[in-house]
Amino acid sequence: MINVTKPFLPPMEEYQAYLKQIWERNWLTNNGPLVNELELRLKELLQVNHLLYLNNGTIALQIAIKALKLKGEIITTPFSYVATTSSIIWEGCTPVFVDIDADSLNIDATKIEAAITADTTAIIATHTYGNPCDIDAIQAIADKYQLKVIYDAAHCFGTKYKGKSVYVYGDISTASFHATKLFHTIEGGAVFTKDPELLKKMAHMRNFGHNGPEDFAEVGINGKNSEVHAAMGLVNLKYVEANAQSRQRQFEKYNEWMKYLKLKTIKLTPDSQSNFSYYPVIFESGKAIAKAIEMLNGHWVYPRRYFYPTLNNLNYVAKCATPVCDMISPKVLCLPMYHTLSMEEIDFICRLLLRAQNN
Ligand SMILES: Cc1ncc(COP(=O)(O)O)c(C=O)c1O
Repeated sequence: MINVTKPFLPPMEEYQAYLKQIWERNWLTNNGPLVNELELRLKELLQVNHLLYLNNGTIALQIAIKALKLKGEIITTPFSYVATTSSIIWEGCTPVFVDIDADSLNIDATKIEAAITADTTAIIATHTYGNPCDIDAIQAIADKYQLKVIYDAAHCFGTKYKGKSVYVYGDISTASFHATKLFHTIEGGAVFTKDPELLKKMAHMRNFGHNGPEDFAEVGINGKNSEVHAAMGLVNLKYVEANAQSRQRQFEKYNEWMKYLKLKTIKLTPDSQSNFSYYPVIFESGKAIAKAIEMLNGHWVYPRRYFYPTLNNLNYVAKCATPVCDMISPKVLCLPMYHTLSMEEIDFICRLLLRAQNN
């Protein structure tokens, strides 16, 4: 069976060496030494000013919205994982969906201004599939209308824009280190900001608002992550570069097949460096994607329709007109991609796609 992805597991002995330390210290959670070490190592690797390691990427979004005190309407993308929208609603704000760009599948920055009202306080955009949004255009709009910007960078470990980690852009960027991501800590996430005050506020927020044992600075939540999760991250850091390189080879192998297949691939953002986390393809029609899925599933290959249905169709949001997203989303399929996927398996998948196309 070939699934769309497979979590990376490092050699068990390396993880066990960290577990031994945890047992010896008897310190399991609450800002432990491994959490601190992971934060420092990530800061250095990614060359970012600050970050806070959290228990997942959804809490990261919720803390970001709360820390920026967002109210009213938040402009966002309909083409992302449900957490991007549900976090907005969870924090008592209203998502306003702006259509996506047909080539990158990121929010179409040229359509944002038309959606701004007196109630708009922020833009939450996803760097979909780890491919950066039109960051400069979004920042220019945010500056003009005094809006905050949060980037849902859940897919972006290792992605760069203009030579810097994509996490440095926006008021806050959020990451997911979920098991299926290129870098993972089983469950995990992070917030990134350049603003030390905002960082301090979010540090309180992730720990119930505590500012010392008997003082509470803010309303908080339990956003902490544990030593056993941080340990997985510390081991995985050793392998992340090799895993990224194997995904790049897979990406290039899929690219070679594209000349035989009637599929469109997404346009990578200029001046950016992808992390090759996903291989999304766009079919010509709903019929073509259905035939391909049937053919692949019939041979135990399970790609995923990220992101379908779109967030605009959730039963708890008000619908906005997003014709490009509505047209493209039913035709997008993410092909399998993970560290051990072999070139032969990619040939197998692409031959099945070709067979479905020719049948
Ligand atoms: C775009 C996006 N945002 C947010 C999340 C939520 O992250 P987590 O699963 O770590 O809560 C995901 C999860 O895959 C995601 O794909």
